[in-house]
Amino acid sequence: MTTRGCFMTLEGLDGAGKSTHIEWIAHTLRAAGVDLICSREPGGTALGERLREILLRDAMDLRAETLLMFAARSEHWYQHIQPALARGQWVLCDRYTDASYAYQGGGRGLGAPAIEVLENWALQGVKPDHTILFDIPLEVARARLERGREHADRFEREGAAFFERTRAAYLARVAEDPTRFHVVDARQAIAEVRSDLACFLHEVMRSHGIAPVAP
Ligand code: TYD
Repeated sequence: MTTRGCFMTLEGLDGAGKSTHIEWIAHTLRAAGVDLICSREPGGTALGERLREILLRDAMDLRAETLLMFAARSEHWYQHIQPALARGQWVLCDRYTDASYAYQGGGRGLGAPAIEVLENWALQGVKPDHTILFDIPLEVARARLERGREHADRFEREGAAFFERTRAAYLARVAEDPTRFHVVDARQAIAEVRSDLACFLHEVMRSHGIAPVAP
């Protein structure tokens, strides 16, 4: 019987550095022999990528935004992630439902209960096995974002109060489910973040019977 793969997600505020580390995480897992696919949200499927374009560009009602996030997510989960995990592949996903708790639930102020209803209805409450949260104080994230300001999307253009609420909602998720989350201090230099991630990934691989390779 095939062993189900591991589902790992990356979360954090815009500017926390997820994009800087995702390739490296994928490389570290693959080097140890993990059969891994990488994906992202919103997106991950042809429909999801079309919804992403709309979500990052067009102003819309908060409920419409939340429902489109979940429309993209349910397509992603049922067409892509769940079958891959069933085949025994690992899935590394840049954002998942925790982002809806943080951005729509926290940042936009929808609250967690509405997100939970959608999570239970659309995804039968399925959660990642492990989530790495790149946690960063707002000012540091904003300073990093300022550098790419001219290409900012609809979320990245939000103000400080929005991101304060978003970060607080992420940290509330961690407090509710501390064993699923690994929180990285994303203020650190890239090398320090990587050595923290290496320890974490080695632990996860060992728990799945995979021998990590020295960097
Ligand atoms: P992001 O991973 O930051 O894309 P990029 O690295 O290309 O800027 O994700 C795009 C945005 O979508 C991000 O600002 C957060 C937002 N988002 C939500 O608001 N809710 C969600 O459920 C998801 C998955 C993303």
